[in-house]
Amino acid sequence: METVVSGIRPTGNLHLGNYFGALKSFIQMQNEYNCYFFIADWHSMTTHPKPGDIQRSANTILAEYLACGIDPSKCAIYFQSDVKEVLELYLYLNMNTYLGELERVTSFKDKARKQPNNVNAGLLTYPTLMAADILIHKAAKVPVGKDQEQNMEMARKFARRFNSFYENDFFPEPASFSLSNKAIKIPGLDGSGKMGKSEGNCIYLIDDDKTIQKKVMKAVTDAGPQTPNSEKPESIQNLFTFLDIVSSKEAYNFYDEKWNDCSIRYGDLKKQLAQDIIAFTSPIRERIMEYSANTELLKKIAKEGAEKSQENAAKTLAEVRHIIGFR
Ligand code: TRP
Repeated sequence: METVVSGIRPTGNLHLGNYFGALKSFIQMQNEYNCYFFIADWHSMTTHPKPGDIQRSANTILAEYLACGIDPSKCAIYFQSDVKEVLELYLYLNMNTYLGELERVTSFKDKARKQPNNVNAGLLTYPTLMAADILIHKAAKVPVGKDQEQNMEMARKFARRFNSFYENDFFPEPASFSLSNKAIKIPGLDGSGKMGKSEGNCIYLIDDDKTIQKKVMKAVTDAGPQTPNSEKPESIQNLFTFLDIVSSKEAYNFYDEKWNDCSIRYGDLKKQLAQDIIAFTSPIRERIMEYSANTELLKKIAKEGAEKSQENAAKTLAEVRHIIGFR
C-alpha cells in the first residue's frame, strides 16, 4: 500500500470549504493508503504563537478532524511536535540546502514582506521542515493545494539530492496529489467564488443553527431573473452550487424551475438552503463538542498516532544515519 503524508496547518476552525476541500479527500484516502496526517504545530511557530494558543488550537483541530471522520484506526493522526525524528532529518536536509534556493521561495518572500521584523530562520527553512515531514515516511503521495506546489518541488529536489549525493535511491520522490483538482469548490455567500477564512465569508462547522441561518439569509442576491431561462449571475449560481451540494435533487430542481420561469423567491431558497446546511453540519458539530469535552480521549488518540508515526519514522532515520555514516 502506498504511503500518504499530509500536514494540517493549525489556523482557526474548519469551515465548509475545508470540509469539501481537503477533508473529504483525507477521509477517502485513509481507506486506500497508508496515511500519516499530522497537525503542523512546529510550522505554526514561525509567527510566534503564545503557549496557550498552541495548546487550544491544536486540540480544537484534532477534535474537528475526528468529528469529520478521520479515523485513528485507519490512519495515524498526530502532532508534528510529538515525532522528534523529523527534527533530525530536518537537520540533515538543511546541510544540503542552500540559502539562495530558500530565499527564492515565493511564500518566503511574501511572508518576509509581510513580517519584516520577524524574518526568522524557521521561516526560511520552512521547506526543509516540510520535506522532512514527508520524507521521514518515504511518502509516495502528498495531498496539497496549489499553494504548496513550490514546497513540493523543493521536497522532491531534496530527495533527489540526497539520493544522488549518497549514490542510492533511498527516498522516493513524493508526488503532489492535487486537492484543487479533486475537491468540490464551495462558493462564498457574499457573491465571491470561494469560501475562505481570508475572504471572511465562512460557514464554520461549529456554527450553531441561528448563526448559520443568519449567514445564509444575508447571502448576496439580485433583483431576480428578468427573462425566462436566463443565465445565472455568479452570486445566484453560488446559491445553486450550494444547493447542489447539500440539498436534495428535488429541491435543486424545484428552485431551478422557479428561476427559469422567473417566479423564484430568494427568501424561500435561502430558508431551504439554511435548513439543509444545518442538517448537514449539526451532527458534526455535536461530535466536535463531544471530542472537545473529552481531553483524555484526545490525548490518547494523539499518543497512539504519534507512536504509529514514530515507529515508521525511527526506521527511516536509522537507515538515513547509516547511509550518512553515523554507524
Ligand atoms: N505547508 C503546508 C500548508 O501550509 C502544511 C504542511 C506542513 C504540509 N508540512 C507538510 C503539507 C507536509 C503536506 C506535507 O498547508
